[in-house]
Amino acid sequence: MTMLDKDIADLKVLITEDEIQQKLNILSRNIENSFSTDEDIYVICVLKGSVMFCSDLVKRFSHNIQMEFIRISSYGNETKSTNNLQAIDLTLPNLDDKNVLIVEDIIDTGLTARFLTDLFKIKHHPKKLLFVSLLNKKCARQVEIEPDFYGFEIDDKFVVGYGLDYKGYFRNLPYIGYFPN
Ligand code: IMP
Ligand code: MG
Repeated sequence: MTMLDKDIADLKVLITEDEIQQKLNILSRNIENSFSTDEDIYVICVLKGSVMFCSDLVKRFSHNIQMEFIRISSYGNETKSTNNLQAIDLTLPNLDDKNVLIVEDIIDTGLTARFLTDLFKIKHHPKKLLFVSLLNKKCARQVEIEPDFYGFEIDDKFVVGYGLDYKGYFRNLPYIGYFPN
């Protein structure tokens, strides 16, 4: 028995697997070029949504990297941002004077990105802090913030796949899709 009230047959593809993988080639190159070659990069994967994006991105890096994982929840089971950020696990090593890359799945209202950026600047004093988001819903922004890099700008529609979920489902899809109204 599934708790799911959406049918995958109704899902429309917004960004194909191939388009995502092509974009990662460009993104990874641009990101690496922004850090000195001889320095480690601490890659911070923001769970759960960034799991696919972050995994595929780091495979393309030739720098020495360390991977860290933090977990934040903002959506609950709804398709609208709740403005209610829940920090579930922010455990990190000392990142003072380190090169840090925060990897997010999507920037919607911008509240999560703002929270994370402030947190890192206040608590960790990295040498260099860059932020990458696969998707960017510029039109849904409530606080003024832009990532240093992003893959695709999308309209203000709720998307799933490639790590992004609806009620915990659809994270395993290799593409990004949406349910038309
Ligand atoms: P923000 O704080 O409103 O920018 O929301 C950021 C988080 O909400 C993202 O990291 C996602 O986990 C989630 N989110 C925002 N938009 C979507 C969407 O269209 N589909 C699935 N999750 C989303
Ligand atoms: Mg997220």
